[in-house]
Amino acid sequence: MDLIHPGSVLAGAPELSVVVPCYNERANVAPLVAALDAALEGLRWEAVFVDDDSPDGTAAEVRRVGAADSRIRCIRRLRRRGLASAVIEGALSSSAAYVAVIDGDLQHDETRLPEMLATLRGGGCDIVVGSRHVSGGDATGLAGAWRHLLSDFGIRVAQAILPVRLTDPMSGFFMLERRLFESLAPSLTGHGFKILLDLLLAAPSGLRVREIPVRFRERAAGESKLDALVLTQFAGLLLDKALHGLVPLRFIAFAAVGAVGVLVHLTVLAAAGRWAGLGFHDAQTLATIVAMVANFQLNNQITYRDQRLRGARLWRGLLLFMLVCGLGAIANIGIATVLYRGHTTWPLAGAAGAVIGVVWNYAVSATLVWRR
Ligand code: GDD
Ligand code: MN
Repeated sequence: MDLIHPGSVLAGAPELSVVVPCYNERANVAPLVAALDAALEGLRWEAVFVDDDSPDGTAAEVRRVGAADSRIRCIRRLRRRGLASAVIEGALSSSAAYVAVIDGDLQHDETRLPEMLATLRGGGCDIVVGSRHVSGGDATGLAGAWRHLLSDFGIRVAQAILPVRLTDPMSGFFMLERRLFESLAPSLTGHGFKILLDLLLAAPSGLRVREIPVRFRERAAGESKLDALVLTQFAGLLLDKALHGLVPLRFIAFAAVGAVGVLVHLTVLAAAGRWAGLGFHDAQTLATIVAMVANFQLNNQITYRDQRLRGARLWRGLLLFMLVCGLGAIANIGIATVLYRGHTTWPLAGAAGAVIGVVWNYAVSATLVWRR
């Protein structure tokens, strides 16, 4: 007897997995599934929603829709945030021949998916990108003039560093062979918003890109998640590429936050001395505490945005962070004093102490405070 049910050949892996990163998109899930269903008629497809535990219950909504439709899957990630890393996990969960990435807010035109697939199947290119900037495309859905400006600036920067020409390297709407994605995945940084850029930079000999025009629609419901922090991460992605990954990006962010902390410290010190009339000792103590709390918050929001501490873990983290930095300060002063006694100049001894302090703080807080 044949163990394979005749129908099971058809029930194999889908031809196309549509990966949908989503955060607080509850109201858009069912309309997007309906739109995909209409656009992909006749194809074997699935949709993988990758949700970062949205407070609005997006994951539950995907499961509700999935309960009636086995083509709809949900990956719910806990204590993580990030568009690019969500896309990576969704794509790696697929067994389909092709993977597409589309926003979960109906801003991308899903009716272009069959054309994208046909283009890939036609050969001659590795990745098809939905572009707002080739003729026939349209970016009017971008909310406001400043988004247009920002988007144009980002495109210029990206074009300058990319090995291939394309008009819309910031697009979040594209399709490629799953096997190609898998081969590039180990080289992806997974930072921030720009997964397409990440992919294009990860291919050692460059990808053959084909762009097709798309209209960028207005957002249907909910709001955009692009903010100043996301832009900082974009800058980080570029910096990481420029440094060829030699210095960990987190360390750079951590050190930059430390520099801000010095400014906070000096400002509080001056203010407490001048306006609050505190003595040097009290003012210095206050400044140290304020700077530590500020640094902790900034590191939690920026350096470790993807594994941000919350609730009780936030307070525990703050306490640990202050302890770690306190020890770092002792190491800093200790080294600097030893060097100074050994006839090193003032600035050199001071700088050496500060470097030791920063490296200590970074290494220890990475393993103790923001431990995975
Ligand atoms: N899982 C997950 N985690 N999804 C996220 C996260 C996150 O941290 N942040 C955003 N998303 C999801 C959103 O829910 C949405 O489905 C999609 O990613 C795009 O996010 P939006 O916040 O809607 O982005 P946008 O409209 O400002 O940006 C669009 O334009 C960019 C180019 O200017 C998107 O199309 C981007 O993909 C595109 O790069
Ligand atoms: Mn959007």
